[in-house]
Amino acid sequence: MKVSIFKKKNSGYISAKESSKISRENRRTTDQMEKRLNRKNVDPSEYTTKMRDENNVVEFDNLHTYFFTDIGTVKAVDGVSFDIPKGKTVGVVGESGCGKSVTSLSLMQLVQRPQGQIVEGEIRFNGENQVYDIAKTPIQTMQSIRGNQISMIFQEPMTSLNPVFRIGNQVDEVSEYHHPEMSKEEVKKRTIEMLELVGIANPEGVYNMYPHELSGGMRQRVMIAIALTLSPKLIIADEPTTALDVTIQAQILDLLRNLKDHINSSILLITHDLGVIAEMADYVVVMYSGRVVEKGTVHEVFKNPSHPYTIGLLNSKPMVNKQVERLYSIPGRVPNPIDMPNYCYFRDRCEMCLKKCNGEYPPEYHLSDSHIVSCYRYENKEVKTDE
Ligand SMILES: Nc1ncnc2c1ncn2[C@@H]1O[C@H](COP(=O)(O)OP(=O)(O)O)[C@@H](O)[C@H]1O
Ligand code: SF4
Ligand SMILES: [Mg+2]
Repeated sequence: MKVSIFKKKNSGYISAKESSKISRENRRTTDQMEKRLNRKNVDPSEYTTKMRDENNVVEFDNLHTYFFTDIGTVKAVDGVSFDIPKGKTVGVVGESGCGKSVTSLSLMQLVQRPQGQIVEGEIRFNGENQVYDIAKTPIQTMQSIRGNQISMIFQEPMTSLNPVFRIGNQVDEVSEYHHPEMSKEEVKKRTIEMLELVGIANPEGVYNMYPHELSGGMRQRVMIAIALTLSPKLIIADEPTTALDVTIQAQILDLLRNLKDHINSSILLITHDLGVIAEMADYVVVMYSGRVVEKGTVHEVFKNPSHPYTIGLLNSKPMVNKQVERLYSIPGRVPNPIDMPNYCYFRDRCEMCLKKCNGEYPPEYHLSDSHIVSCYRYENKEVKTDE
C-alpha cells in the first residue's frame, strides 16, 4: 500500500516521470477501493459488526485514512483509536493539520475521494437497529445513515447554507428527504419547532428569510437546527465556533450544551481550543500528526496532563489569574505527513526526551482505566487495568 517518494539524486524534487508513476500506482490502489464501496445490494454481513462496549455510540479502532497524492501518500490519520460513549461529549484537540477533520470525515464517509481512503481499521457505529463498520459500509447504505443517525455542524455556516433558498426550505429539505411520508404541514411544523429550539426568537419570520439576511450566529443556529432535525444519535461539530466572534461563540456553546441534554445525543467536538474542550467535553483526545498521543476524562487530562505535547498545549494557553511574560510556544516543527519518522513523532520538539525515544514509536501506557498516554516516560508508571 505504501508509496514512497522517489527523489532525484539529492535534488529534493520528483520528476514528472516519477510523479506520473506514483499517480498510476495510486489509481490502481484507489480504483480497487472505490469499486468495493460503490457496489450495490451488498450483503449486510459484510459491513455490520458488534460493539466492543454497548454503552458506546462510536468506537474508532486503529483507523488509518490516507490520501494518495501525486507526490506520495499522506498518512493523515495513522492508527487512531478512541470511543464516544452514549450521551457524552468527546473533544478532539490538536494543532492544525493533525488529522482532526479527516478523522470525523472518515466517520461520515466524506473524505475527499478517490484519493482519500480508509485503508485500515474499523469505525463501529451503534446505529438504530444494527452496528455498522463505517469503513466497509457501501455508499448507498451510508446515505441513509448520514444526516439521519449522524449529522455534522461545519465551521462556516455561510458556505454550508445555500444562498438562493429560504431558510425554511433548507430545514424542510432534511425531513422531506429522510421522511417522505410526512405531509407538507408536518414538515413545516417540525422546522418551526427546531428553529425555536435553537433559540431563534422569530421562527415564522426567519422561515421566509434568505441566509444573507441573518447574522453569523443566527446562521450557525440554523445549521444546528438542520443537524438536530432528525434527532441523530451523534452530532459532529467541527470547529463550530471558530468563525464567530467571542460573545456569539459563548452563546453557541451554551446552546450546544443545553441541547445535548435535551435530545440525548453524543457529540464529537473538534477544536484547536482547549478552553472550549474544558467547558464542553466529558472526555478529551489529544492528536498529534495523525495519531492519538493522550486521551482521558477532561478532569484527568487537565489535572494531570502527561504527554509532553499536552503539557505544551496547556502551557501555551493564556490563564486569567496567571501573570506570564510571554506565552509559551512549543518549539520546532511538525513532521512532514508524507515522510513520517519511525520514532516518536514528537521527538524533534520534545524537551523531555529519554534515550529510549530514539527507538520505535512508543506504545500506549495506562495511567488509569480511562487515562492513556503514548510516551516512554510512563513506561514504569503503568497501573493495572481490567483490560
Ligand atoms: N484532500 C486532501 N488531499 C491531500 N491531503 C489532505 C487532504 N485533506 C487533508 N489532507 C491532509 O491531511 C492532514 C490532516 O488534515 P485535517 O484533518 O484537515 O487537519 P485538522 O486537524 O486541521 O482538521 C493534513 O496534513 C492535510 O494536509
Ligand atoms: S516518547 Fe520521548 S520523545 Fe516522545 S513525547 Fe515521550 S519523552 Fe518525548
Ligand atoms: Mg480541521
